[in-house]
Amino acid sequence: MSKRFYITTAIDYVNGQPHLGHAYEKIIADVIARARRSLGQEVFFLTGLDEHGQKVQQAAQAEKKNPQEYCDALAADWQAFCKKLELTNDDFVRTTQPRHKEFVQAILSKLNDTGHFYKATYTGFYSAKEETFLTEKDRRPDGTFDPSYGEVVELKEDNYYFKLGAQQQWLIDYIEANPDFITPTYRRNEVLGFLKNNTLEDLCISRPLARLNWGIPIPFDPNFVTYVWFDALVNYISIAAAHGDETVLAASGYQPSTLNSQLALWPADIHVIGKDILKFHAVYWPIMLKAMGLPLPKQILVHGWWQKDGAKISKSTGNVVDPIAVINEWGLDAFRFYVLRELDIGPDGNWTDAGFRSRYQAELANGLGNLVNRSLSMLKRYRNGVVPARSNELAADAAKAADETRALFKQSQLQSALQSIWGLVNRANQYVDQTAPFKLAKDPAQAQRLDEVLYNLTETCRVLAVLLWPFLPGTATKIYAQLGLPGSPDKLDAATWGGLQAGQVIGDPAPLFPRKDV
Ligand code: MSP
Repeated sequence: MSKRFYITTAIDYVNGQPHLGHAYEKIIADVIARARRSLGQEVFFLTGLDEHGQKVQQAAQAEKKNPQEYCDALAADWQAFCKKLELTNDDFVRTTQPRHKEFVQAILSKLNDTGHFYKATYTGFYSAKEETFLTEKDRRPDGTFDPSYGEVVELKEDNYYFKLGAQQQWLIDYIEANPDFITPTYRRNEVLGFLKNNTLEDLCISRPLARLNWGIPIPFDPNFVTYVWFDALVNYISIAAAHGDETVLAASGYQPSTLNSQLALWPADIHVIGKDILKFHAVYWPIMLKAMGLPLPKQILVHGWWQKDGAKISKSTGNVVDPIAVINEWGLDAFRFYVLRELDIGPDGNWTDAGFRSRYQAELANGLGNLVNRSLSMLKRYRNGVVPARSNELAADAAKAADETRALFKQSQLQSALQSIWGLVNRANQYVDQTAPFKLAKDPAQAQRLDEVLYNLTETCRVLAVLLWPFLPGTATKIYAQLGLPGSPDKLDAATWGGLQAGQVIGDPAPLFPRKDV
């Protein structure tokens, strides 16, 4: 059995509705998943929800629901959101599912048996509001704590800890020996800097039941539940185990009660995450995996954060982008296009409605949409929609875009791939202006020249559909349908020039991105 290309997103906290940041991360992962499938690889794409914790417990209480009911209702919205984004995820994990909880408990037992945990008493200041322990460092110059922490109490509490002490050097060596492990490079340097300049403190992995009951009980001490990261991060392997992954099953000793598939998934090829959770993925997660005897993921791909109009996205100030409203107004592909074309994977980005409209108008409506519409309309008008004999005038331009796109897909360089593809869109629009087929059509002596021009344009539209499929699956499929071709343009090999056969009759052209007067 060959290993699948395994790609994951962070699992989102289920304490509200999905926003632009969540959508962005899922679209990145979906485009990479589709791109890999287009390259001919077998892929497994996982996304899902992080459902435990005090915030969920409190939000459920406020709505007078039990936490499970609360999660179930929201999970339905989040799953509908994945459909709305046309994600091709192969599974959707919810950390309250028995398949996940049982696996977490198996791992906790195993790590406890092998001496990776200890219990200790901690005395310190605690903010219930922020659900966090505070130290002397958190005091303001006048000795008080910031009012945002609410009431701060002194607390003495037993908890379980995961030993991290001796783990620093091998991880530094590993990151240095594997330059692609953390991408982009500046994020890798951040992690190396952190590891070299700090001593790792052991990681608290529990909360007493009295303080938090909405969590996974620790199997060797029923007075505690596991806290946040030993629950959430483990989703990446609990779901592999649920699908029968031999590597994970062997290391964990866990046997699922039912097994419907037997896939080889671990190690993950890419964890797509945002910059705020880098330390957990690049420091704690590798150490946890090593303790479990599992190989490390091949890559942690770290994206930046979106702002809107230069300010933090925040529900309380109303500075938000509602992805569903944007999709309903402009179409899904316009949304998918904007977030990936505007922002490279790495730096922070800034959403502006004006910027969105301007890319829609210039690149989608006047660029791609206009090219496809005028090419097919001219073929319809001048040649009754019948594809003329092959001509190779734009073949080299198409091959260049296809080669670049193929290489960029393998490096998850999505913004650059779009730039390369738009190089071909612009070249073809320029070709229309240079060859002026509407003039050629008036001169019977130019009939053969017009045939050539029309073939080059129509075939370029077909190649574009193939290259664009991972990004704009709906649009790519529409282009194929308008060309009268069956199926989806979902295999990159089909981007080879000359796929359109003479005599092929195209379908009816229709605008892909209706112009909007704004
Ligand atoms: N539940 C944890 C992750 C556990 S992964 C094992 C969590 N959830 S979250 O809902 O707060 O965030 C989920 C993802 O969305 C994170 O990768 C985070 O970086 C990303 N984003 C949240 N807000 C964002 C923006 N404004 N912009 C881009 N991504 C952002 O953290």
